[in-house]
Amino acid sequence: MYNGSKVLVGLGLFFLIVTVPFWLGFGTEELAPELDLDTPAIAQLADKKCIEPTGVMREEHMQLLEQWRDQAVRMGNRYYEASDGTVYQASLQNTCLDCHSNKSDFCDRCHDYGKVSPDCWTCHLDPEGMEL
Ligand code: HEC
Ligand code: HEC
Ligand code: HEC
Repeated sequence: MYNGSKVLVGLGLFFLIVTVPFWLGFGTEELAPELDLDTPAIAQLADKKCIEPTGVMREEHMQLLEQWRDQAVRMGNRYYEASDGTVYQASLQNTCLDCHSNKSDFCDRCHDYGKVSPDCWTCHLDPEGMEL
């Protein structure tokens, strides 16, 4: 027997189930992760800035790290001149994680939020001494 209301309820349930991931994610999207900049190295900076402007770092740090790895490993060039002329060692551990020594409250927090998990720390040392 054809039962219109049952079909509607069924369709409604189907719709709810299919869109559950959307509803669960809804609302949390607005909450940017809180990034902790309170590290000994950053506290010592006269000018509290990253190696490139914050927006550039936010958008392009992955490419920058890739470039560092390639230039260090393939070309033996371990220095990076930033756009403001400051020269840094092209090193994940000695440079990025010197300032951002609180990896879990900085890098990881943002990556967890963005659901990315860089595998760098299976080989590179984590300053906090723990696995990602
Ligand atoms: C000299 C210390 C220092 C070094 C070295 C450094 N950072 Fe930063 N970084 C900072 C500071 C300070 C800020 C916050 C700047 C601000 O508040 O605008 C920051 C901001 C950032 C941000 C943006 C955070 C946001 O607000 O969205 C990212 C991403 C980042 N750093 C990643 C890196 C990576 C990756 C490296 C290595 C390639 C690195 N940093 C090296 C000090 C440093
Ligand atoms: C403001 C948020 C934010 C902060 C802070 C941040 N990341 Fe990221 N990171 C991302 C996002 C988002 C991606 C993924 C980008 C993509 O896939 O295009 C990413 C990707 C990466 C990748 C590439 C991963 C891959 O497998 O290709 C590396 C490496 C990386 N981040 C290192 C770091 C390090 C090291 C720090 C801390 C010093 C850091 N990130 C801090 C947001 C952040
Ligand atoms: C399979 C192991 C392995 C993984 C995974 C790995 N690396 Fe490396 N990486 C190395 C080795 C080995 C070197 C060469 C070390 C040296 O000569 O100082 C290196 C060097 C580098 C360097 C230049 C030297 C330095 O002090 O940092 C950068 C930058 C770098 N890797 C970034 C990354 C990033 C970013 C990731 C994750 C997206 C990553 N690596 C994942 C093994 C690895």
